[in-house]
Amino acid sequence: MLDLTDIRAELAKHYDLAPNQALADAMGDIYARMDRVVTPFDWVRYAPYVAAINTLKKQKNAAILAHNYMTPDIYHGVADVVGDSLQLAIEATKVEADIIIQCGVHFMAETSKILNPTKTVLIPDMDAGCSLAESITAAGIEEMRRRYPGAPVVSYVNTTAEVKAASDICCTSSNAAQIVAALPQDTIIMTPDQYLAQNVAKMVPQKNVVWWEGSCIVHEQYTAQDIRDFREWNPGTRIIAHPECPPSVVAEADYSGSTSGIIKYVTDEKPQRAMLVTECSMASNIADALPEVDFIGPCNMCPYMKKITLEKILWTLHSGTGEVQVDAEMAQKARLAVQRMIDLSRQLGI
Ligand code: 13P
Ligand code: SF4
Repeated sequence: MLDLTDIRAELAKHYDLAPNQALADAMGDIYARMDRVVTPFDWVRYAPYVAAINTLKKQKNAAILAHNYMTPDIYHGVADVVGDSLQLAIEATKVEADIIIQCGVHFMAETSKILNPTKTVLIPDMDAGCSLAESITAAGIEEMRRRYPGAPVVSYVNTTAEVKAASDICCTSSNAAQIVAALPQDTIIMTPDQYLAQNVAKMVPQKNVVWWEGSCIVHEQYTAQDIRDFREWNPGTRIIAHPECPPSVVAEADYSGSTSGIIKYVTDEKPQRAMLVTECSMASNIADALPEVDFIGPCNMCPYMKKITLEKILWTLHSGTGEVQVDAEMAQKARLAVQRMIDLSRQLGI
């Protein structure tokens, strides 16, 4: 676990991180991307961190890959690439910098390392886990193979390198249905997200989709009754749900898609009012680009994603700590499953 007191003391020796109004004003172009959701007071506190990170990034030839669930100060302030899990995996194959700072959760950093074995991949907090990734091991994959002999294993990218290495192909929420549909077998094993699998099963009725019983602690909290109540209290609101939500929730929504699919839908449709049934920062990150859309609740946070902060990013960049390592043999096997997903997605035009 990171000792923040020690980190703060060490950072203070090298950087002036005190709230700075002049710096905040000088960086007004960056603030303009988030001023609907970040208060001027907070920006004055964030600006010195954003400035220090952006300077250090250049000095060290590092690139920041940030998931759509990062907070706006990270998403708009310091990220070089933002995206959903599929986009981040694809972008990781193109990074030219020597160091990748993964602002997201541990399985995302592992995926970047698997795709870039010679690069240094750092994560600002090693404890940024994921309830889905923690729900299954390679032994679980073998158990599913014994139960359904001959069925291919499609593992969500939200898994450890060990699980990816034991799987036939990966998927993300952007391509899961298309990947399942494209496989030649009739029975397909999907792990570890039972809800993503059930949502895919509805979209691909020609396949017999069987699943592992994992779930996302953020999306499993929503219920169909919540959505019906919300519609009744806020008539006319466009409701958009991530496919990690239970199928009963997705059935009540106007649209379901990956985090980038959600951004595209809201950007194209520009509904007057929208409710994003997913992680809280999603709405905040697109609020400024869509001033005509009123984003109304809910705000469920992913405690793992929220472990990543500006302070920890600066520390990782400064100290080089938080390096993600994947055993070479395991990485090679895991790379096959990830690369098959990337190649098939390209082939399918996703
Ligand atoms: P996507 O960004 O791929 O939709 O995934 C959401 C998620 O929960 C990642 O942890
Ligand atoms: Fe994992 Fe859910 Fe958090 Fe995504 S939102 S990292 S799936 S726990």
